[in-house]
Amino acid sequence: MLILGIDTSCDDTSAAVVEDGSRVVSNIVSNQDRIHEKYGGIVPELASRRHIEMILPVVDEAMKGANIGFEDIDAIAVSYGPGLIGSLLVGVCFAKSLSFVNKVPMIAVNHLEGHICSIFLEAKPEFPFIALVVSGGHTSLYYVEGFGIYREIGRTRDDAAGEAYDKVAKLLGFGYPGGPIIDELSRKGDKEVVVFPRANLKGSFDFSFSGLKTAVLNYTKKTPDSKKEDTAACFQDAVVDVLVNKSIGAARSKGIKRIVLSGGVSANTALRERIKKESLGNGIDVYLPSLQLCTDNAAMVAAAGYHRFLKGEFANISLNPKAYLPLGDCRT
Ligand code: KG4
Ligand code: ZN
Repeated sequence: MLILGIDTSCDDTSAAVVEDGSRVVSNIVSNQDRIHEKYGGIVPELASRRHIEMILPVVDEAMKGANIGFEDIDAIAVSYGPGLIGSLLVGVCFAKSLSFVNKVPMIAVNHLEGHICSIFLEAKPEFPFIALVVSGGHTSLYYVEGFGIYREIGRTRDDAAGEAYDKVAKLLGFGYPGGPIIDELSRKGDKEVVVFPRANLKGSFDFSFSGLKTAVLNYTKKTPDSKKEDTAACFQDAVVDVLVNKSIGAARSKGIKRIVLSGGVSANTALRERIKKESLGNGIDVYLPSLQLCTDNAAMVAAAGYHRFLKGEFANISLNPKAYLPLGDCRT
């Protein structure tokens, strides 16, 4: 079964063709980094305008890459939230038109469910597992019992981890997205130079990164001669510490032996190394998507859509995008 996935939730225009929810046939991602770089973050209006320009060529490329026509597609899966409303609107409207014109059913996918399902494009973790979704807009831990059965057991109370990366990169004078820049810079830095605060929020699996961001700002003001690579490495160490400790803590407290990572920040080198090491020490299997499947892509949306297709969960022409869409509440 072939599903065309579409994702325009944030600043990447993406379309993909996936077979049986597990084999990527084509996966095209057009990013807008150059447009937003000079602003140090995403400008929503510019993002939606660019999606309008790119959606047609990106879908076309995905279909050509798969060497198929719309008569070969069984369903169109589209992210309808959470995300930037103007961006989501482009993907949802486009999917509706394609579905209507080609008489192909449409499936509404929660973008966060897509991130969790990205692992099924490369591996088959057994249920239940703990999923850490860590991106520019979200940082949450889920207890995943099966496809479509998610319980959020922890979430950030303020900034997402990726947002903290982007803001710290900006205050250090770098562009957007900040995550890959800080990741790279940290390799040349000394993570022992300063200990930034870790919000442990004892007794909870929630996260908080805004205090850390402020601590980095105060440190750079107080020590203008400090090396940027050291500051980056110390900031990253604090983020990774909390993400790893909370994920392992959640798995241990629920008696679960599997952790799945997803979202843009799960591409982080230090996070991947640390979680692998700590999981091994705790007898936990850790599942990491390959780098191109960590950041936003439509293959993950098609993978999530496949399982909703099997359950007969289709959307209709009245589907509207939702900027706020908690996972666990994503059936339409
Ligand atoms: O999942 P994603 O592509 O989009 C959202 O759904 O938000 O995640 C984007 C976020 C950005 O904040 C970006 O800085 C961060 O992921 N990111 C990274 C890395 N690559 C991307 N953060 C840390 N290290 C990386 N290597
Ligand atoms: Zn995302």
